[in-house]
Amino acid sequence: MNPELASTADFAQVRALLLACELPENDLNLSHMDDFLVLRSADGLAGCVGLERAGNAGLLRSLAVAPESRSVGLGDVLLRAIEAKAGTAGIQRLFLLTTTASDFFAVRGYLPCPRSDAPDTIRSTTEFASICPASATCMTRPLGSTTSS
Ligand SMILES: CC(C)(COP(=O)(O)OP(=O)(O)OC[C@H]1O[C@@H](n2cnc3c(N)ncnc32)[C@H](O)[C@@H]1OP(=O)(O)O)[C@@H](O)C(=O)NCCC(=O)NCCS
Repeated sequence: MNPELASTADFAQVRALLLACELPENDLNLSHMDDFLVLRSADGLAGCVGLERAGNAGLLRSLAVAPESRSVGLGDVLLRAIEAKAGTAGIQRLFLLTTTASDFFAVRGYLPCPRSDAPDTIRSTTEFASICPASATCMTRPLGSTTSS
């Protein structure tokens, strides 16, 4: 199963998957699908991940694997695929917010950081500014770094 570029036809399933995984989806619109990757299975979407571009920084968001498809490496595959997409787009640093998966990202090269470390362009995204709770952990990783596993 390889990540594919999402299309607007995936929009409803992406939102449903995020809802099932208790991730923010209210702020998503069709144009976000341009920077989403999905994993398709016979039963529908097994996973998704998204990127919001903000100059040379990016917000990694909406990494979700369907509960029945977890722990076989799909989360890792999606993460590496969106990092590659971001790198190709000239993004030099990724930021993310997570309430439940900081350990998952930590072993993949992401370090916690204060929200104030994120550039204004990232902090003004809807997810950053108003959707994720203040208690969410902010993490960051430079792209092209060799610190990941
Ligand atoms: C986080 C998530 C994407 C991982 O997907 P996955 O396909 O199960 O991950 P992988 O199979 O690639 O990796 C599994 C490894 O990650 C670890 N892991 C999975 N979810 C984790 C979590 N929430 N916190 C810490 N570690 C986690 C597993 O213990 C396993 O570790 P191991 O390899 O040492 O046994 C998935 O659990 C998910 O969709 N969670 C809900 C949404 C979410 O929190 N997204 C992240 C914020 S954007």
